[in-house]
Order: sequence, then structure tokens, then C-alpha cells
Amino acid sequence: MNGIVAIDGPAASGKSTVARRVALALDALYVDSGAVYRGITWAALERGVDVYDSEAVMRMLGLLSMRFSACDGAVGFTVDGAAPGNAIRTHAVNHAVSPIAAMPGVRIQVVTWLREMVALGPLVMEGRDIGTAVFPDTPHKFYLDALPEERARRRHREMAESQSPLDEAAVGASLKRRDLIDSSRKMDPLQVAPNAHRIDSTSMCADDVVAAVLAAIEGEG
Ligand code: CDP
Repeated sequence: MNGIVAIDGPAASGKSTVARRVALALDALYVDSGAVYRGITWAALERGVDVYDSEAVMRMLGLLSMRFSACDGAVGFTVDGAAPGNAIRTHAVNHAVSPIAAMPGVRIQVVTWLREMVALGPLVMEGRDIGTAVFPDTPHKFYLDALPEERARRRHREMAESQSPLDEAAVGASLKRRDLIDSSRKMDPLQVAPNAHRIDSTSMCADDVVAAVLAAIEGEG
């Protein structure tokens, strides 16, 4: 595989687990595009920028230095020289990220950065608009989904490991809110790309999803 694998889908549909493992199997770099939107959101919250004020967010973005590099099989980034790590996965970032990701100026900048990553090597990139807007010409497009209850259960389990106080119903409500903003925004909303392989992972284990993705890529040459 010498190009790009695009894996899109709603929040907590299993994209990260699957994309990481597909990247490893194909000796490609894993890219979490959501982490880039989260990094911008984290920077805005740290600086006290109003996350609903697109002019203020764009002013901040213009002053921000985001640098991307490949390390340990994935593309990571720093914001003004520091790696934000798990600080991009807090409840505050979860709440503010979709409004920020709906701003056209933010999307134009992030899509440019994501496209520049092809210079680093073959990529397995997960997100919301990879097959529709970032790399619409790749033949390897996937849309992962799972029932909302199952996604809430998975995300709650993940968050409980980091001692989040939210219960499963609150996690489900937060995912639902993000899905709604992500799929109804004007620019590059979350939708199934034409010709994408749709996989409903509700009752599949990760091994089976990874095998299905690899078999489809193999068939596409
Ligand atoms: O991991 P999770 O499914 O919770 O979300 P994520 O991939 O970390 O993405 C966080 C947010 O970034 C999403 O809810 C979208 O608002 C935004 N995003 C986007 O707009 N486009 C992408 N390609 C990736 C993420």
C-alpha cells in the first residue's frame, strides 16, 4: 500500500484502535486528525480565547506554531514547542472542539496541514472528512459506525480508565451533541464518502474490523 487509507466515522466508533492497527500492518504512519482539532481547541482554552468567536480563534491560530513529525509509527505534533499529550482529551476540550472544528478558517488550515503529511510516507488517517474532503481521490475509504449505545459504552469505559466522573448516560449525551454539530456543519460535514466501505462494528471485535479493512485494501491493489 503506497498511498492513503481514509477512515471516517462518528465519535467513539472505533476509528483510532482500527486505524492504528491497520497502519502497523501496512507499515504506514497513523494520523489522528481529530487530535489536531483538539490541539487547537486546547490552545484556545489555555489562552482564554472565546471558543465561539471565530475571529478570536483565527487570530490565535495565526500566532500559533504547530509542528508535525513522525515518531513511533504515528504523526505527532507540538503546539508552541510543547506536546499537549492527554490534555487534549479533557471534558472541556470534548465540549469545545466541535464548534471550533466547524469554523471554515480552522478547517482550511487543518486540511492544508493534513495534506502536507503525505511527504512523510504512506498514511492511515482517521477523522470525519478524510475520504470526502482531505483525500477524496484515495481508493481506500472506510466509514466505521456503531450504535450510539455501544459507542457510549466504549467511550465511557475508556474514560473511566482515566477516572472521568461522567456516567455512561452523560458520555452518550456528549457524543450525541458532537455528532450533531459535526454532521450538520456547513463545511465538510461528517458523511459517508461515495464508494466508502461501510462497517458497522456494533457486534464486531477490533480484530474482525481490522481484518475486513485489510482485505478490502488488498482487493483494491
Ligand atoms: O475520538 P473522537 O471520536 O471522540 O473524536 P476525534 O476524532 O478526537 O475528533 C474530535 C472532533 O474534531 C470531532 O468531534 C470533530 O468536531 C473534529 N474533527 C473534524 O471536524 N474533522 C476531522 N477530520 C477530525 C475531527
